[in-house]
Amino acid sequence: MYQDRVLPLFGPGPLVSRPLKGLYRDQVLPDRGRAGPWIYANFVQTLDGRISLIDAQTGIEGVAGSIADPRDWRLFQELASHADVLLSSGRYLRDLRAGTAQDILPLGSDTDFLDLHAARRDRGQALQPDVLVISASLDFVVPQLLLEQGRTIHVLTTADADSERLHRRKDEGARVHQLGTGERVSGTAIASILSGLGYRRAYCATGPWVFHTLAADGVLDTLFLTTRHRLVAGNGGSFIAGATLEPPADLKLETLFLDQGAAVGQLYARYQVLAPPGS
Ligand SMILES: NC(=O)c1ccc[n+]([C@@H]2O[C@H](COP(=O)([O-])OP(=O)(O)OC[C@H]3O[C@@H](n4cnc5c(N)ncnc54)[C@H](OP(=O)(O)O)[C@@H]3O)[C@@H](O)[C@H]2O)c1
Repeated sequence: MYQDRVLPLFGPGPLVSRPLKGLYRDQVLPDRGRAGPWIYANFVQTLDGRISLIDAQTGIEGVAGSIADPRDWRLFQELASHADVLLSSGRYLRDLRAGTAQDILPLGSDTDFLDLHAARRDRGQALQPDVLVISASLDFVVPQLLLEQGRTIHVLTTADADSERLHRRKDEGARVHQLGTGERVSGTAIASILSGLGYRRAYCATGPWVFHTLAADGVLDTLFLTTRHRLVAGNGGSFIAGATLEPPADLKLETLFLDQGAAVGQLYARYQVLAPPGS
């Protein structure tokens, strides 16, 4: 499935096609970002900017089959293989329990991903990344499977979180941290807790709200973006949601690959988030 090659269109190195497998696995990724740990995110979107669709029958929002792609999923896993910790959200854990999430948080156990487990071992990393769940409501259940895999599950919320739910999440095995007040955890709080816990590479596997939190507070370092050459229209979301960013976040293209081995062509871009002017 991964044999077909991808063509570099922009970035350092020779513009010679290369296999999809290993594209991100074999890169040396930073382990420091501008707010402490290197925080990176990844999305797959259609050409019309959809990362999710609302099912007309069930009303449930999710990554539709028309958006997801196995070759993109391979790269998602490769990026996850570098992480010390995955950022997740209350919404993801609710979806997981309801059976509507795309997958349990990587790394996947399929034989297809065994090389990624080996890469982690070679780098001296734990077999699976830990997890930091961002949630205001604390309305989810900590998946025991993640704990059984030897992972530490942190939950980050504010001082105003519901205390009964907070105790339940602790009883389920999570380490709960409270920073700030109100209904929103800030991006600064996320970076600070990650630094304090000693994590160096944090992979944001969440949706557009957590991504907005990171971008708005200037703690996001890198965006990996797959764009499928497909239009889906309908009702759904894009990869960032929230109030207007003031100032806007500017990004610099670092690498770009064209993949024509997928059923539908797609581009893999990597952008560095630039510090706002004058900062
Ligand atoms: N195509 C892709 O690459 C891709 C990637 C990721 C997600 N998606 C899809 O995107 C869709 C939308 O995801 P989503 O809207 O659920 O986004 P999300 O950002 O994953 O999760 C939103 C939830 O995160 C928590 N949250 C976000 N920001 C917070 C903050 N500042 N402080 C405290 N908690 C915060 C809240 O949890 P509580 O409600 O528990 O407080 C909120 O409900 C989903 O269908 C998902 O499958 C697509």
